[in-house]
Amino acid sequence: MTAFDSATASVETPMNGISAITLETAAGTLLPVFIGSNYADICGEVARQIARVARERRNAVLGLATGSTPIGVYDALIRLAASGAADLSAARSFNLDEYYPMEADSPQSYHTFMRRHLFDQVPWGHWHVPSGRNRPREIIEADCRAYEAAIQTAGGIDLQLLGIGRTGHIGFNEPGSARDSRTRLVDLSAATREDAAQNFGGLEQTPHQAVSMGLGTILEARRILLMASGASKAGIVRRAFLEPPTTDLPASLLQQHPGTALYLDTAAASDLF
Ligand code: F6R
Repeated sequence: MTAFDSATASVETPMNGISAITLETAAGTLLPVFIGSNYADICGEVARQIARVARERRNAVLGLATGSTPIGVYDALIRLAASGAADLSAARSFNLDEYYPMEADSPQSYHTFMRRHLFDQVPWGHWHVPSGRNRPREIIEADCRAYEAAIQTAGGIDLQLLGIGRTGHIGFNEPGSARDSRTRLVDLSAATREDAAQNFGGLEQTPHQAVSMGLGTILEARRILLMASGASKAGIVRRAFLEPPTTDLPASLLQQHPGTALYLDTAAASDLF
């Protein structure tokens, strides 16, 4: 069975309110695209996919994202768990990224974000978020290698959840990131810092760096669900999937990953067809 077979085989039939479409990418690959009439519909559908993976493999390995896009997914997952329709008590997860420098218990950290939106609200097996602690470079590099090793030891990522940034970044892999990059300290682009500034009380206080899984790390996940919501994402979604893949637009590399599916609301999908 190829990766594509296994990926499509485990895409559960979408619920009402979601249209399933196949998109031919610029790379010539066929990409499943699920379009919901609103944000809540796609969040519910993505949560159902996560619950299903955890049902098929109790200690499934999930790659998780932060930012505004997945919040509705985590809300829906919490509801599924409360109703008994999802059991994540043995799930293992690895988050994409953390700002640097950033103490885990800071209110602005992605550690805190994940606790608040998910891990403090639902029984969860083991979760990992990269460390953003201000440490000497060799310790940061050793932490990054340990993060990669922990993903490998867990058996690799079964399902990776992604948002997409204005620059086309996935994780904090900004344009120009290497296709085979691994977890490392990265520089944030000016656009990404501007988008984050509201969470830090202004651009001055916004970190210039982050620790992010690499493109190589992400592309090794068995399945990848990229979500986008709202008209502000329509242009970058179109460029990422209808223009030729290039490291200048990191999300475009997903065109060549046979286990990728897009989950979009109608506004984010509006430039695709
Ligand atoms: C977050 C992450 C980023 C975001 C992206 C979109 O962990 O890695 O790539 O997914 O910046 O952010 P939102 O969802 O806030 O538009």
